[in-house]
Amino acid sequence: DKIQAFRQTLLAWYDETKRDLPWRNTNDPYKIWVSEIMLQQTQVATVIPYYERFIETLPTIQALANAEEETLLNLWQGLGYYSRVRNMQIAAQQIVADYAGAMPQTMKGLLSLKGIGPYTAAAIGSIAFGLVEPAIDGNLMRVTARLFELDADISQPKSRKLFAAILYQLIDAERPGDFNQALMDMGATIMTPANLNPEASPIKEFDRSYQNGTAHLYPVKKKK
Ligand code: ADE
Repeated sequence: DKIQAFRQTLLAWYDETKRDLPWRNTNDPYKIWVSEIMLQQTQVATVIPYYERFIETLPTIQALANAEEETLLNLWQGLGYYSRVRNMQIAAQQIVADYAGAMPQTMKGLLSLKGIGPYTAAAIGSIAFGLVEPAIDGNLMRVTARLFELDADISQPKSRKLFAAILYQLIDAERPGDFNQALMDMGATIMTPANLNPEASPIKEFDRSYQNGTAHLYPVKKKK
């Protein structure tokens, strides 16, 4: 059907064009966690060297749990939002104390960790454990709003439910992590805010805003 065709088209494009990022060569949930936290407020190109150094210095959850404050500060110097790494260390200590040192593999377990909210839990869960959970951030909301010409105001927290309901229908249950990352790449490279090259979209035949020339109207964001 149409949804299956959408998944196949999107994943084929991802398989062909995905960026070779260091955290895409691993299934280690710790490494995926570190990458997702760094990527929250920082561009991919900036994150790469920080990620490499962080993983080299603190290769495991145990190492992070036991790290000196000075080591963390040094590894995070220049990334900003230092609370991100302080929360990661607290979460690493929670994992050691409450989960026998292994990353929990359920949404409930992931969400119990300091600094891990619905987006990060879904990103780690889908990429590392194959949980069928959409990783909904601003990029995925923009892409989804355009695909369906959704008028929900993304500045309203309650709109998230609508995006979740739609994305649960769309997500590929066999490859949920790749599906999420494919939509992230679409949002980062083609279905960007400026939408400079809409013809390049591999999913334009499934994109109502492309068909109707309305991409610039989406997503709706009312609050300033
Ligand atoms: N931004 C957030 N998570 C990402 C990922 N896994 N790959 C690329 N960009 C991202």
